[in-house]
Amino acid sequence: MAIQIINNTIYGDFNLKIFPTTETVLFVLTMGVVLMYLLSILGNLIIIAVVCAAPRLHTPMYYFLCNLSVQDVAYASSILPKLLAIQITGETQISFLGCFIQMFIFAACMDTEYFLLASMAYDRYVAICIPLKYSIIMNKRVCTMLALTSWTAGLLNSLLYIFLISHLSFCDSRYISHFYCDIKALIRLSCSDITYVNSVILVEGFIIGFLPFAMILTSYCFIISTIMKIKTSATRLKIFSSCSSHLTVVFLFCGTSLSVYMKPDSKSSTEVDMMLSLLYVAVVPALNPLVYSLRNREVLNVLRIFKVTP
Ligand SMILES: *[C@@H]1O[C@H](CO)[C@@H](O)[C@H](O)[C@H]1NC(C)=O
Repeated sequence: MAIQIINNTIYGDFNLKIFPTTETVLFVLTMGVVLMYLLSILGNLIIIAVVCAAPRLHTPMYYFLCNLSVQDVAYASSILPKLLAIQITGETQISFLGCFIQMFIFAACMDTEYFLLASMAYDRYVAICIPLKYSIIMNKRVCTMLALTSWTAGLLNSLLYIFLISHLSFCDSRYISHFYCDIKALIRLSCSDITYVNSVILVEGFIIGFLPFAMILTSYCFIISTIMKIKTSATRLKIFSSCSSHLTVVFLFCGTSLSVYMKPDSKSSTEVDMMLSLLYVAVVPALNPLVYSLRNREVLNVLRIFKVTP
């Protein structure tokens, strides 16, 4: 494997793709990405600081949120600074090693996010549907297990990707048809036989993508059916509004990423892919802190104590 990588290094850098649009649209896109990146770094760092600093937020839900924020910062930082650099300077080169590192971090974070979102949905399910057993079920050990499993699954999946890709040979074509080192775009570049790799990725994407997504949907189905039985309409509305915003982010993230990764490979739709990717790469990490925490009264109260108002 190491020799293969060294061999490939001789072939030199890769080139990423800039959005194929007019200069004005590109400018707007760049500004949008800057905004999203700043929002996601700022929002997620605030969440991490607030949860660490406030003992009363030391509950499973906020621990998971903190995990999600750490993950979001790494996730956005693996792609967006490089994307901005290529859009602003027009220099599309990325080194072979840089490309692999980007793919590794991005894939690890993306799968971790799936599992963290599933853990959070499960946590909400227990809290809302079987509240009396909450402290027994979501104990410290279970939470640590869930968080650890999420990160481990992400890392293992990423290692598998690196392992698969490092066995491919890359020939003359160095132009990745995406704005980051995406595994599917890299596979498309290879001149080896890719049927085997593609089917592994499809099966594994199903397990690591669809299963957590199905778990999230199941949890929220139970939650919604429980909410429907609540008599006081004020409480019902409150829980309903927070659940629907969670679900919106889940659909935005899972819907766009699953549709890009699971759809059959075709050369023509890469522009659409790039646009959809922008949603889960740039928009979701910026929305997560807003949707999960900054609309939340407990977090807002802590922020008020620290005299920080977002
Ligand atoms: C992640 O979650 C686990 C389990 O709830 C918690 O113990 C840990 O402190 C969290 N880590 C971070 C960085 O938020």
